[in-house]
Amino acid sequence: MDHSIPARSRKKIWLGFFILFVSWYLLLYLIDWSPLPGFASVSHHQPNSVVYLGSDYSQNVSLMSHVNDTSKNATVYAEKEEKSVKISSTEFEGLRNELEPKVQQDDDKYAEKDQEKRAKSGRKSNSCTGRYIYVHDLPSKFNNDLLKQCKLLNKWTDMCQYFLNMGLGPALGNPQRMFLSKGWFVTDQFSLEVIFHNRMKQYECLTNDSTRATAIYVPYYAGLDIARHLWDSHNISVRDSDALDLVKWLREKPEWNAMGGMDHFLVAGRITWDFRRVIDEDNAWGNKLMLLSESQNMTILTIESSPWNKNDFGIPYPTYFHPSSDDQVFQWQNKMRQQKRRTLFTFAGAPRPNIEDSIRSEIMEQCTASRRKCRLLECKNGRNKCIKPVHIMKMFQNSIFCLQPPGDSFTRRSTFDSILAGCIPVFFSPASAYVQYLWNLPTDYTTYSILIPEDDVKQKNVRIEHVLSRIPRKKVSEMREEVIKLIPKVIYADPRARLKTVEDAFDLTIKGVLERVEKLRREIREGRNSSIDFDQENSWKYYTFGTTQEHEWDHFFLRTNRARY
Ligand SMILES: *[C@@H]1O[C@H](CO)[C@@H](O)[C@H](O)[C@H]1NC(C)=O
Ligand SMILES: *[C@@H]1O[C@H](CO)[C@@H](O)[C@H](O)[C@H]1NC(C)=O
Ligand SMILES: *[C@@H]1O[C@H](CO)[C@@H](O)[C@H](O)[C@H]1NC(C)=O
Ligand SMILES: *[C@@H]1O[C@H](CO)[C@@H](O)[C@H](O)[C@H]1NC(C)=O
Ligand SMILES: *[C@@H]1O[C@H](CO)[C@@H](O)[C@H](O)[C@H]1NC(C)=O
Ligand SMILES: *[C@@H]1O[C@H](CO)[C@@H](O)[C@H](O)[C@H]1NC(C)=O
Ligand SMILES: *[C@@H]1O[C@H](CO)[C@@H](O)[C@H](O)[C@H]1NC(C)=O
Repeated sequence: MDHSIPARSRKKIWLGFFILFVSWYLLLYLIDWSPLPGFASVSHHQPNSVVYLGSDYSQNVSLMSHVNDTSKNATVYAEKEEKSVKISSTEFEGLRNELEPKVQQDDDKYAEKDQEKRAKSGRKSNSCTGRYIYVHDLPSKFNNDLLKQCKLLNKWTDMCQYFLNMGLGPALGNPQRMFLSKGWFVTDQFSLEVIFHNRMKQYECLTNDSTRATAIYVPYYAGLDIARHLWDSHNISVRDSDALDLVKWLREKPEWNAMGGMDHFLVAGRITWDFRRVIDEDNAWGNKLMLLSESQNMTILTIESSPWNKNDFGIPYPTYFHPSSDDQVFQWQNKMRQQKRRTLFTFAGAPRPNIEDSIRSEIMEQCTASRRKCRLLECKNGRNKCIKPVHIMKMFQNSIFCLQPPGDSFTRRSTFDSILAGCIPVFFSPASAYVQYLWNLPTDYTTYSILIPEDDVKQKNVRIEHVLSRIPRKKVSEMREEVIKLIPKVIYADPRARLKTVEDAFDLTIKGVLERVEKLRREIREGRNSSIDFDQENSWKYYTFGTTQEHEWDHFFLRTNRARY
């Protein structure tokens, strides 16, 4: 047989083999197989830096994709030069301002992609460049001493139990098999500053060299401080004294001088109105922490921010769930996906007879009138089911929608309990969430919630049951899936553990703060001041939409009751 093949054909066969071999070689080594399942082991051989470069690339792409051709060059230029050279093009800066909200959105998209990538590579980004945080070593009277006086912090409740487990409170266990065997705690809604501080102690990019830090954290327990005096002390100088001591202490530190405190941030675990006493009269509410001139420069994170002020930013209330592994998060999400929901809507709360324009009693009436379609948990006195996590969570898990009307103020912890339970929140004012939790909730509120304007309820123009039962089944399940996807973004993981791929509310907050401080730093360098770009009264609009143009929500934000807000 051999002899029957001419020499030329034999050469051709060898050439064929050679080409096959080369192509096989190229296929194996030059193409990144990692996106294909089953080829993960190949990517493991790559050094970490390759994985990192990979996500870096997608960042550039996504940063560029939102701009059209004219501005592409400018964006790339800015991204590259930011660290080393001062940007000189004022024309470009104007453009950037216009694009800011869009950039934000695209960054969010990027964050999602990035998270997927990290989930695949099984680790979070390892570079601390631009993420270093310096923590002030405050005198203990501003934090730890308050924990030691836990019995005196609240007139009615012994707060000591709530500081167990690094501020998470006592372990909840798994009563009625409602929760998971781990990760659940009886957490007080005002414990955030303690939880946040403990999370910060584990933050992966801490530095002792403040000149290297992008931002500076002030671990002052502002809410625990003022809670001691809210009901007892009618002496404003007593109420203000710690806040005044704090800013005095801060100003004497060299770190303050670098940016006049504009790189400083602190967490106040109570609503903003507890720190905004406008008049100096003993019977006025709260202290004036957030009104001090030093506080105007700092970024203050709080569970409810003021729509009319620019120095505070809303971050989620703590819930009962504080997972210590990614798996606990995924398990919980799946559990909520499979949950049978027999009630159309639910309301847990108390009427507010003392607040003239409160819609709560109307809501409770409507709920009662809707009979089996609505479940009502009326919170009349302190010792009832309302403060038992198991009752609240059971109701929310069995319900399709959860009503979140304003109470004493715009926001409620209940909003986050409802998201956690996969129950679609129904709001009555955009001030309750949409202009508050910009770093944690999607810009498009229609994807995960319902807005029924409070005036319509007050004037009895709508029946809540009708609005909710008319939403198509498909739309409802899409919304619920969005809500369930939000769960990781609104919970605070256990400070004693570290999640691998999931970004929680703490991670998103830190990202938001670092971005904001970096923007302020850039402005100072360029001699600009974006704070004069908009009237403080329009902060809600500027921060949410990047513009102060007329908006359909304007009527929600008329300041009708200045005594309250
Ligand atoms: C490109 O961007 C400029 C400036 O933002 C804008 O005026 C223009 O309409 C955009 N063009 C397209 C095709 O999107
Ligand atoms: C982008 O920059 C390149 C080189 O600097 C230039 O040739 C090109 O025209 C620019 N593109 C636009 C759309 O300005
Ligand atoms: C992405 O941008 C960074 C920072 O400007 C740069 O170092 C890197 O080379 C870019 N990556 C790609 C793939 O363009
Ligand atoms: C900062 O200094 C303290 C005390 O010297 C030390 O315990 C801590 O580990 C240092 N932290 C970092 C991030 O270097
Ligand atoms: C308030 O407290 C301060 C400090 O304890 C005291 O000096 C002052 O007299 C008090 N004022 C009133 C009105 O009681
Ligand atoms: C606030 O920051 C500005 C700019 O850095 C600075 O000029 C001003 O003194 C700061 N205010 C206070 C009270 O430190
Ligand atoms: C920016 O302007 C505001 C209002 O005029 C002023 O209070 C603030 O100190 C300015 N900030 C800087 C960094 O100059």
